[in-house]
Amino acid sequence: MDFKIPFIGRAHKYTQEEKDVILESVDNAVPLTQGKYQNEFQDKFASYIGSKYCFAVNNATAALEMSAQMCQFKDGDEFICPSHTFTASAYPFIKKGAKPVWADIEKDTRVISLNTIKKCMTKNTKAVVVVHLYGFIIPDIKEIADFCQENNILLIEDVAQAMGTSINEKKAGTFGDFGIFSFHSHKNITTLGEGGMLRVKDKKYADIIPMLRHNGHCAWEIQRDNYWTPAMGNVDLPELNGEYLMPNNYCLGEVECALGIKLLDRIDNLNKEKRDRALKFIDFLKDFDLLKFHRIEDNTHNYHLLVAYINDNKRDEFMQKMSEDKSVQCVVQYYPLNRYDLYKKLGFSESNCPNTDDFFDNMISFPFHHMMNDNDFEYMMQSTKKVLEII
Ligand SMILES: Cc1ncc(COP(=O)(O)O)c(C=O)c1O
Repeated sequence: MDFKIPFIGRAHKYTQEEKDVILESVDNAVPLTQGKYQNEFQDKFASYIGSKYCFAVNNATAALEMSAQMCQFKDGDEFICPSHTFTASAYPFIKKGAKPVWADIEKDTRVISLNTIKKCMTKNTKAVVVVHLYGFIIPDIKEIADFCQENNILLIEDVAQAMGTSINEKKAGTFGDFGIFSFHSHKNITTLGEGGMLRVKDKKYADIIPMLRHNGHCAWEIQRDNYWTPAMGNVDLPELNGEYLMPNNYCLGEVECALGIKLLDRIDNLNKEKRDRALKFIDFLKDFDLLKFHRIEDNTHNYHLLVAYINDNKRDEFMQKMSEDKSVQCVVQYYPLNRYDLYKKLGFSESNCPNTDDFFDNMISFPFHHMMNDNDFEYMMQSTKKVLEII
């Protein structure tokens, strides 16, 4: 179906300077992976979010996979996670042997909270995954981090959608043990379609990630007579809490890293432009009670996505009308994970999340990619208004 305003777009256009950076790095990067651009991207990202240990990876899922490994789950361990999120927030932890316990979202904020996390706690809770969904930083993330620390629970922040947001100048992704960022094609910045960053709090994690990320490759510690004996490099990993983890290959290429360095210069502007547009849309429709938006003016929201709750059980009628004549392609997301076939087959269908169910069953998400031009945006506003007038 070709819609005039399709939901799937891509994050943003590249400026001429950004395109120049891509071409320069194609010529200058030696090698094309694991080189100077990676180091510079990590350093600049670290100073942007205000945290020391950051590692570029090929996507956020790879960062989640490594975080899950570093949780070192044992038989019977559980992790708490919202079911209202993208599937990659959860399955890496299941793959590493932990059982999910689905936490509800708050009705107003549409994200998990300390309150909903506490309801899921058992003596087996080893980790908590929180998701700053839609680009909104969880309001009580500091309290969640303190609670996890007091209870010896690892905290993973999925910041795939919320890069750049902050509370009291402290950025999302710097509260927990692990912070996960995505530069996928839809995100507020994208490194040519794929990319991610893993931020860790402790040096003990930072020390193993270069090897965990890249096949266990490392330098020899022994004194050697020749650079080629016993082999060019070693394969090894420092132990983590008395155990050895198996490595992966999750590196991000040099061209993507070079572009990432440049994009960091305008992430705050991109976030602001998205937020300004979202507020324009919300305010334009403020006289219609049918749509309930989450209206936030400050840097706690980057409006990665623009979603609304539709009152009076009118969601499907609204969707129907919006998609008539292939006009605006709104979508419904995120299907509660416990309802997916895979999670059901694995025995994880049980959930006590009434706010999640209610929000999913009554929500819509508007097309909101940054590449949408002003005319199309205006068209979407007017079309939405027209539909609201007739419902
Ligand atoms: C909340 C959330 N977590 C994780 C991911 C995975 O990101 P990536 O595609 O970079 O692996 C996404 C991607 O859409 C996401 O929205």
